[in-house]
Amino acid sequence: MTVEKAPAGAGRERQSAIYRDGVLGRRPTVPTDFGTLERAAKQKMSAKGWAYVHGAAGLGKTAQANRDAFDRWQIVPRVLRDVSDRDIGVDLFGKRLPAPVLLAPVGAAELAGTGADVAIASAAAELGVPYIFSNQGSAPMEESAAAMGDAPRWFQLYWSTEDDLVDSLLERAENMGADAVVVTLDTTMLGWRPEDLNLGSLPFAQGKGIAQYTSDPVFMRVVRERIASALPKADVEVTLGAVRSLLSMTRRFPGRFLDNIRSPEPRAAVETFLDIYSRPSLGWDDLETVRERTSLPVLLKGVLHPDDARRAVDIGMDGIVVSNHGGRQVDGAVASLDALTDIAPVVDGAVPLILDSGIRTGADVFKALALGADAVTLGRPHLYGLALAGQDGVRDVTANLIAEFDLTMGLSGLASVDEITKDSLRLG
Ligand code: GLV
Repeated sequence: MTVEKAPAGAGRERQSAIYRDGVLGRRPTVPTDFGTLERAAKQKMSAKGWAYVHGAAGLGKTAQANRDAFDRWQIVPRVLRDVSDRDIGVDLFGKRLPAPVLLAPVGAAELAGTGADVAIASAAAELGVPYIFSNQGSAPMEESAAAMGDAPRWFQLYWSTEDDLVDSLLERAENMGADAVVVTLDTTMLGWRPEDLNLGSLPFAQGKGIAQYTSDPVFMRVVRERIASALPKADVEVTLGAVRSLLSMTRRFPGRFLDNIRSPEPRAAVETFLDIYSRPSLGWDDLETVRERTSLPVLLKGVLHPDDARRAVDIGMDGIVVSNHGGRQVDGAVASLDALTDIAPVVDGAVPLILDSGIRTGADVFKALALGADAVTLGRPHLYGLALAGQDGVRDVTANLIAEFDLTMGLSGLASVDEITKDSLRLG
């Protein structure tokens, strides 16, 4: 099946392609609805991979709230309007995007499928949809960028306790052609995630998802300083699990396995990462220094309170990603969509708003835009596509969402994204 890069009219074309294939006796490799997609991905993924990608904080109430918030809003379609020519493109940071959709940064993507970040980057490039590279990626950002040609990519940053590392990551992001930087603020510590905790599983402790770090000269300098000062000192009990973990760290470390197995660096890299990747003391003052650190547009991710949104605008941030991290951080938190309804009037168009967390269908994209988002990010679903069919799976999941959005918009009587307003919604 061929996928068009500029999805104007994307909905009908994709639908027709699927039905045409059906006439030939072929079914889509990747299910076209989220429920079937999720169940199929669970079958394919390891227990630990599934726990990490699917897992949420505590009882999962925030993840559920994200969905409930979408369900509370209903679209009220209008009829007899000419929707034969539709435009689902949007302008964001000086670029015309084919659809109001970006791929969210998701750490340790290798847990979902081979190729991980590079496969996701290639799929995003096929569609012209920006991919926000995770700071906790499974491939160095330069490798993912090399797979994308000129296609748009952004970079997501965790603000490390080492300012030099922050600067180095930002410089690399500029060099690899990022259009924007997204600073994640809600993960200064990991949330309490029972699905991972019950398996005692943290991907980073196995050396998974730390490729942006082990490829970074400043990070590796810190690692070597720690080794020289005889850190880490912690004794590790020798168990089968410990040996497996060491092999996993070593396999993922840059360079030759046989050299690495004799080196203290793979283990020291993991311990250094766990110590320095994030800064729980991060404050507004730190953020104000970001302008000296990069010339790229900066968005703050993880903003849920209107006062924080206002302050972000006041200190000159270029955009806001309204997000509760897919419900992975604080259990019982406000749904991202509900936070968006509080934040949009306060920001009042001063900067772009991106809605992250809970997007599963084209109708969700429509509702988010109607409630004030300029674009949305797609997280877990693209990882499920990766699990099922690698690069093609990511592309198909994303193209399906965009197609469904196009049809939802047209069938609601609207011909362009600018026409989507709250007038199309009612509370159910
Ligand atoms: C990190 O971003 C995570 O959600 O695990």
